[in-house]
Amino acid sequence: MTGRQVDRPERTLGLIKPDGYPVHKEDIFARIKTAGFEVVCEKEFTFDRKVAETFYQEHKERPFYEELVTWMSSAPISAFVLEKVGAVRAWRDLMGPTNPQKAREEAPDSLRALFGSEAPRNAVHGSDSQQSAQREITLLFPDVSPVPPKPTQIVEEE
Ligand code: PPS
Repeated sequence: MTGRQVDRPERTLGLIKPDGYPVHKEDIFARIKTAGFEVVCEKEFTFDRKVAETFYQEHKERPFYEELVTWMSSAPISAFVLEKVGAVRAWRDLMGPTNPQKAREEAPDSLRALFGSEAPRNAVHGSDSQQSAQREITLLFPDVSPVPPKPTQIVEEE
């Protein structure tokens, strides 16, 4: 049987952190559009501390966890769902390395190079895998499908 490899779109979760929101929001979204993402939905809100703790639960044992959660729940942010083929990887590439200084050296056009200063002030967040994306989208957008809807199947009659 011969098969055809089809690149299916996927979804990922992005945040503009307190250092990026609202000052750099317009610029960041312009770059998101230029990179070919569809913005499925967006909301502006302040993290409830408990929700931020759940959001960052995988980093609970890391030394910066408290600082990260406190920072992320300290002021309004923007959260959004992005869709395109390879969205998780593509959004991480657009963001650049976690450390803004490293980003300026290795990826000077990336969002963290342009808009970040020093962790935890690195402007943006992006899911690190499809599994994380599904968990994060479901946590922040419970009414939004974490995966793109299946295209309508067209059955051709003989
Ligand atoms: S990553 O992106 O998950 O591979 O990066 P990682 O280094 O594992 O970092 C996980 C999240 O912790 C943030 N971070 C920090 N916060 C505060 N202080 C320090 N020193 C620090 N180092 C890393 C990092 O930005 C990741 O959060 P998000 O929201 O994903 O950017």
